[in-house]
Amino acid sequence: MTTTKAFVEIVSTGRFLPDRVVTNRDMESIVETTDAWIFERTGIRERRIAPPEMTAADMGAAAARVAMERADVEPEDVDVLIVSTATPDRLLPATACDLQGLIGATKAVAFDVVGACTGFIYALTVAEGYLSTGRGKIALVVATEKLSAIVDWEDRTTCVLFGDGAGAAVVRSSAGERGILGTHHQSNGNLADLLYRPAGGAAIPMDEDVLRNRTHLIRMSGREIFKHAVRAMADSSGQALERSGWALEDVDLVFPHQANIRIIKATARYAGLPMEKVFVNVDRYGNMSSATIPVAMDEAIEEGRLEPGMKLLLVAFGAGLTWGAMAVRW
Ligand code: ACO
Repeated sequence: MTTTKAFVEIVSTGRFLPDRVVTNRDMESIVETTDAWIFERTGIRERRIAPPEMTAADMGAAAARVAMERADVEPEDVDVLIVSTATPDRLLPATACDLQGLIGATKAVAFDVVGACTGFIYALTVAEGYLSTGRGKIALVVATEKLSAIVDWEDRTTCVLFGDGAGAAVVRSSAGERGILGTHHQSNGNLADLLYRPAGGAAIPMDEDVLRNRTHLIRMSGREIFKHAVRAMADSSGQALERSGWALEDVDLVFPHQANIRIIKATARYAGLPMEKVFVNVDRYGNMSSATIPVAMDEAIEEGRLEPGMKLLLVAFGAGLTWGAMAVRW
């Protein structure tokens, strides 16, 4: 007896990046840093910063509209709308609900996934679950991040690393062989304090002390994060490949979370993946948390780098700690 696995596929992608480019030279006038330090330690040359009035939902809606148009999908066709964000516009309700209102996805169930930089991979997997169990036909997965609103612009060890942007994907059941083949996800909440916003939530609500001490903004132990990120992403890549039945050499193109070129290169080396197969755009956008992978995929599609049948590996790591990888047949 033969069984046919039904896959769930990414039909189209879209991206939105704010117009304002902030270069490393510009950062020199904000904190005590240099273009050389930032570039040598991170590979970042510039990042995009959204204007104060632009919300994460606005950016996500712009990326979503592009993805829907490319898939020939109307907002009312969307059954499931999942937003990944570490920078929700409001603590209540979900940014997905605000985005739903903006695009008019009136039929959809809308909710957020909080997986930090791994969020796009988590959200794709939730969408896969909805579709593969018949709970909907079309899912819209949006990763939108306004990191500029939560970094401490007086902390040179973090503010130089991040940027704003959004990426989106229309996802549906595949009629053929395209789609998500194998995934691996993991988290370790014991290491939550390596990258976090100590206050401003229900545990330590916002008050004058919080504002004065700036504890509502990002705090990070960079070196520790670096170490964990490399090991976890290499391990997760191996596990996702194993579950998809692919060997390392089968992979055509890798989309790693774009946090830092040194993390990307060390992960590739540790996992045994040649850098020629690794997509990199961290130089132009910095770390846009969960938006980095869909933005990178959208750029790769536009550059004509993806051909039908290619074997893709998505891999990410972030606050939580969270990490995960996904093998996708294009
Ligand atoms: N400009 C100039 N000097 C700086 C800056 C800056 N922007 N930031 C830190 N320094 C100084 C430090 O004060 C320190 O000086 P000291 O030696 O006099 O004390 C020196 O540079 C070295 O600091 P380290 O923190 O040890 O530098 P390191 O080589 O570890 O690089 C970095 C720091 C880039 C943050 C690195 O640890 C890193 O990339 N970590 C990963 C963090 C990350 O990407 N997080 C994103 C979220 S998680 C994820 O997305 C994977």
